[in-house]
Amino acid sequence: MSNYHIKHLEEYYQVYRKSVRNPEVFWEEIAEEHFLWRKKWDKVLSWDFAKPEIKWFEGAKLNITENCIDRHIYTRGDKTAIIFEPNNPEEATQHISYRELHDRVCRFANVLKDQGVKKGDRVCIYVPMIPELTVAILACARIGAIHSVVFAGFSSKALSTRINDSDCKLVITADGSYRGAKTIDLKGIVDEALESCPGVKTVLVAKRINSAIEMKPNRDYWLQPLLDDAYHDCDPEIMDAEDPLFILYTSGSTGKPKGMVHTIAGYMVYTAYTFKNAFQYREHDVFWCTADIGWITGHSYIVYGPLANGATSVMFEGVPSYPDFGRFWDIVQKHKVNQFYTAPTAIRALAKQGAELVEKYDLSSLKVLGSVGEPINEEAWHWYNDVVGKNKSPIIDTWWQTETGGMMITPIPFVTPTKPTFATLPFIGVQPALMDETGNELKGNQVEGRLCIKFPWPGIARTIWGNHQRYKDTYFSTFENMYFTGDGALRDEVGYYRITGRVDDVIIVSGHNLGTAPIEDAINEHPAVAESAIVGFPHEVKGSALYGYITLKEVGESRMHDNLRKEINQLISDRIGPIAKLDKIQFTSALPKTRSGKIMRRILRKIAERDTSNLGDISTLLNPEVVQEIQERAL
Ligand code: WT7
Repeated sequence: MSNYHIKHLEEYYQVYRKSVRNPEVFWEEIAEEHFLWRKKWDKVLSWDFAKPEIKWFEGAKLNITENCIDRHIYTRGDKTAIIFEPNNPEEATQHISYRELHDRVCRFANVLKDQGVKKGDRVCIYVPMIPELTVAILACARIGAIHSVVFAGFSSKALSTRINDSDCKLVITADGSYRGAKTIDLKGIVDEALESCPGVKTVLVAKRINSAIEMKPNRDYWLQPLLDDAYHDCDPEIMDAEDPLFILYTSGSTGKPKGMVHTIAGYMVYTAYTFKNAFQYREHDVFWCTADIGWITGHSYIVYGPLANGATSVMFEGVPSYPDFGRFWDIVQKHKVNQFYTAPTAIRALAKQGAELVEKYDLSSLKVLGSVGEPINEEAWHWYNDVVGKNKSPIIDTWWQTETGGMMITPIPFVTPTKPTFATLPFIGVQPALMDETGNELKGNQVEGRLCIKFPWPGIARTIWGNHQRYKDTYFSTFENMYFTGDGALRDEVGYYRITGRVDDVIIVSGHNLGTAPIEDAINEHPAVAESAIVGFPHEVKGSALYGYITLKEVGESRMHDNLRKEINQLISDRIGPIAKLDKIQFTSALPKTRSGKIMRRILRKIAERDTSNLGDISTLLNPEVVQEIQERAL
């Protein structure tokens, strides 16, 4: 048991050392003791980063849904697996027990089988955050079909590209979705997408908003009547450890999205183990990850990681601002959430609303606060720590990627002392390396470089669907025998890591390497500033200079702006040095963001460089309209 649940720092170091000295022995023990196998593996690990080829638990047979559902029925059958919190707080919450989840997944699996879905087939899931989404995912896994969840906020174009790339025959969707006060016509988006997806033969439609939609004969079927008729039990398909579990698309810096392929056993072991430790989850805790299941965060830490541990996982359909900006805290209070996991962009948006909205609620159940998706700036970190966590719930700033399957660098709460803006120490089994531009590893502490991983961990994506060469080129060709993350990081005097941002965001000004994150941190300290993004633009003397896009908490009068510019630059000067001062500061009503809340720096960079002939596809942005505003007022 001891290795499975780390409880103090000394133990962390001991287990960590063991995990890197002899990874195979270490992971074998975890796999052996905490999961259900139909057959054990012949070999724990074989790998070659040059090919690249990585296999964990080769020869083993299992079904992940037996691990996430069936085995819990004997010990926790009536325990709530999923708490569904609807968009509208007036609508009843649903508590789905492990027993009920089993029944629903089996019925759904039988429906898929009836529709001709077989092991290895790809199924596209374009469903909002309703229980059917989780059930559909697990139903695919039950019968060995490969799910490809597409975030139900993507456009029809983005959807059809993804459906075609992985050749999905069947699409699961809903009539529509709720998003705050709005409804979205999901089925209409699917219909439009399918005009260019000849391979799709069947569409299963969950009813959510009761809108009058068109059902195409012999293609579209309402889900509920089929589920009602289906048998409530379904034998799990016995799968190989290295069979694909799912495909999840992530955008590359160029070209079409990359369909990252995760395989069953390694992903299961890794998400379960990281979940248990990084959140210090205990049997009766209620865990809430606010991400959408359409992203890897939701796959790993709403569905698979929690369920593999028999946990209770909250699934929230709505948005943080509806009916008001107190909604997150209302939900924490209502369900007595113990571990809360969200993104810095949400924290900043909520911080902007002031502390009063937080203080209205009883948040005393909270034990651990998580952050993920982008560097968390100093101001947001402190607000999260002080206002939400009342200085008693440690923040885990978890660094990882779609490609890594699970968390890679993170404090373990109550074990690793936290430090603002630092993801701190590598997770058990993770071997980071910092490299310089010429390909040498930077040893020792107080160094900064490109973040790589030296040795495989069980959760690493095994390939890009249909394009193994691109997998090799993207991740294994920059540095020999290393997985390259695309991020920069520094290691401080005690060995803590701070992620400095994508390496492509590094701006070299007069020969000085400046990360955008620390500059943005400094700017965000100004009381008038809500959010900022820095990009580089060509400069005669300096090579590159800095262009800042800044949103203010209150718009204010433009004659104030020159004063503000001075104050902001003074602040940067104070915090980092005059070298980091901004040459141009544009105040804007918002920053262009992806649906997952990431600032689209590529667009900002192009505008700053006055190269707006090809801004690329902006239709998948959360707020495409701000692009024009920014362009018109560019400096
Ligand atoms: C990129 C991966 C991990 C699931 C959600 C995002 C950035 C992620 C952190 C963090 C600083 C972070 C990195 C990474 N990132 N977490 N805690 N601190 N940066 O998954 O969309 O695949 O994005 O997000 O740049 O490479 P993703």
